[in-house]
Amino acid sequence: MKKTILITGGAGFIGSHVVRLFVNNYPDYLIVNLDALTYAGNLENLSDVENKGNYKFVKGDINDTLFINSLFEEYKFDGVIHLAAESHVDRSISNPLEFIQTNILGTMNLLNSARQIWKDNTEGKLFYHISTDEVYGSLGSEGFFVESTAYDPRSPYSASKASSDHLVRAYFHTYKLPVVISNCSNNYGGNQFPEKLIPLAINNIKNSKPIPIYGKGENIRDWLFVEDHASAIELIFNKGKVGETYNIGGNNEWTNIDLIHKLCEVMDKKLGREAGESAKLITFVKDRAGHDLRYAIDSSKLQEELGWKPSLQFEEGIEKTVDWYLANQEWMDNIISGDYEKYYKEQYEGRE
Ligand code: NAD
Ligand code: DAU
Repeated sequence: MKKTILITGGAGFIGSHVVRLFVNNYPDYLIVNLDALTYAGNLENLSDVENKGNYKFVKGDINDTLFINSLFEEYKFDGVIHLAAESHVDRSISNPLEFIQTNILGTMNLLNSARQIWKDNTEGKLFYHISTDEVYGSLGSEGFFVESTAYDPRSPYSASKASSDHLVRAYFHTYKLPVVISNCSNNYGGNQFPEKLIPLAINNIKNSKPIPIYGKGENIRDWLFVEDHASAIELIFNKGKVGETYNIGGNNEWTNIDLIHKLCEVMDKKLGREAGESAKLITFVKDRAGHDLRYAIDSSKLQEELGWKPSLQFEEGIEKTVDWYLANQEWMDNIISGDYEKYYKEQYEGRE
């Protein structure tokens, strides 16, 4: 194998799309997927590549310092694409400590191990840290996040991601560790855990359950199809300049209420319901604490310097997404038959 690449969090939503893309596009690289299989990790996401000769799954926790050291010693990775994280804002509000542990201390373990094995030669090595636009805080009705926007995280999740970004940059400046960071907007697509707005709403619409909209549904997110995020990650991994940050976004802003109306329209069509039927399920519930009003990404640096462009318009992406969930009911059933019900009750019961 020409290179050995570690992808952390590869059993999760975005990670599984990144693993698939690398396993398929780089038959001469060994792709090692390290994942602790928390509630969000699901090897079913990767059933189509699990038997490929250039793919290896390792179950393990990035918080386990000795284990991470020994994994790096064993594989002598040439590159790391770090996605493993606690990723859901609502969970960070009810249980912030796990976010500090995994997102900050887990990232530290990976940085330390990479530094250790690359100490004599960093030629051709890269530590690629996957981050979020939420580190920049919340926008008013105007403006966009650019790479130089000052950090202003406002939830335990975004604060933990901001902290990990700072550490990654600190290792670049202090120890000359070859790093690159990207900050992406909201992803949507197949394989997303149904705690997040779009798969949660699809599942509820399908089952004629209330669709919970926080506050008045006026908050704005900038949605990107997950495979376009994966293609941006591939490009940045290959062509990104060491030490740089790249913003990734779909230039596709929606208020939550408009997004859900659009989704209801698509679902009515797909399920053969009368127009307007699914929208009757919309239910306004108590707002998320500290709910950021608006995220919007300016990705012109990535587009102009590296030539990236999203491949899909939202209308096409949301149809593909709905089709994926409708065709993969068993995937959804396996998730919602577990701890999900308990989580759902804690988050939503009595919130109306
Ligand atoms: P996810 O929650 O779907 O998946 C996270 C994965 O990490 C899971 O497979 C989980 O098992 C694994 N994991 C968690 N803790 C771990 C630990 N201690 N050790 C090893 N593995 C562990 O998350 P996602 O939505 O796919 O996000 C992936 C990354 O992309 C995160 O770093 C997130 O901050 C970032 N991001 C997400 C979005 C988005 O819209 N989902 C947008 C921008 C950036
Ligand atoms: O911006 C990138 C971030 O996008 C990622 O870093 C996070 O990992 C990812 O979870 C996502 O964060 P959000 O908080 O924006 O995503 P979520 O799907 O949880 O919520 C999207 C919007 O919908 C947000 O304004 C809150 C709202 N919402 C969410 C849920 C789950 C509702 O109105 N009702 C809901 O039930």
